[in-house]
Amino acid sequence: MKLAVLPGDGIGVEVVDQALALLARLDNKYNLGIESEKALVGGCAYDAHGHPLPEATLKLAQDADAILLGAVGGTKWEGLDYSVRPERALLGLRGELNLYANLRPAIVYSALADASSIKREIIEGLDILVVRELTGGIYFGKPKGVETLPDGTERGFNTMVYTTPEIERIAKVAFEAARKRSNKVCSVDKANVLECTELWRRVVTRVHQEKYQDVELSHMYVDNCAMQLLRNPKQFDVIVTTNMFGDILSDEAAMLTGSIGMLPSASLCGSKGLYEPVHGSAPDIAGQDIANPIATILSAAMLLQYTPAAGENGQAAARDIENAVQRVLDEGYRTKDIHTKGMKLVGCAEMGRLLAERIE
Ligand code: IPM
Ligand code: MG
Repeated sequence: MKLAVLPGDGIGVEVVDQALALLARLDNKYNLGIESEKALVGGCAYDAHGHPLPEATLKLAQDADAILLGAVGGTKWEGLDYSVRPERALLGLRGELNLYANLRPAIVYSALADASSIKREIIEGLDILVVRELTGGIYFGKPKGVETLPDGTERGFNTMVYTTPEIERIAKVAFEAARKRSNKVCSVDKANVLECTELWRRVVTRVHQEKYQDVELSHMYVDNCAMQLLRNPKQFDVIVTTNMFGDILSDEAAMLTGSIGMLPSASLCGSKGLYEPVHGSAPDIAGQDIANPIATILSAAMLLQYTPAAGENGQAAARDIENAVQRVLDEGYRTKDIHTKGMKLVGCAEMGRLLAERIE
């Protein structure tokens, strides 16, 4: 399995190191045949090469079976032009590799249910999957820009656009995922106002009728969904939605679980995928060995699960990681972001070591 490793900026570097240590251990145990190569991405790539996604990094990602990414961005690069901001690297990778299906699971570990700002009974046992469309919609639609009008004022604009095939393929991903879970899909749109999502709703409905009638499908407006996620999140199994709605709702879903430091993600196009924690580069805590590596480590588990090149043992290796996380949490070890009274506070490297130790 060819693995492209892009640690990026801020805590990305520390958390990816821990995930790599764990992968090395699993490679030993299961003979996964991992060949990994590192490259720069984001702000550090801009500093070194003048671009957040240098040609060599893109090429490495294109040639790999899977990509493990840490995080990009930081205060240092905030003043840069949009075209070379660290975030452009993420959008560039998504666009160039056509990674249209973004899977963001939000799972509440019972050991952590009290770390959430939401009452335990509302979120205990929560297990939802946000399927976010990732290469279309308002993020990529054209025309876009900021222009100066004849009277000297300015006009900024973006375009929200979806085509039938784009909606069909993401709907299929959601229905297929639901079949392996609780068999329910909620498609989230704003069909009462936006024509683009009126089409979204129509196409999702048709795909459902044609091929997935065994799956329970419902539709919800995005504003209501934002509310329902707080009111009764356990009503959801799979949520499928547009690029921008998915960006917002997945952060909300993340916070239900207590810490964004726990959430992994996969961005897929067929068998190829980019795996990254949902959290960002957290420059305020970078380099202090206090970041939570679990989101990245769980992203590595998704990588093993979804990459065919990991071979038959990939599934077992992924289970090992999930079990190790469960055990370490049950044993009371916590990084700062999820620490509560009476628990054992550990740093990033120590958390990584504890997890690795629990893999025989
Ligand atoms: C995410 C992030 C990105 C997005 C940014 C950093 C470009 O918020 O992955 O959710 O908006 O997609
Ligand atoms: Mg986001």
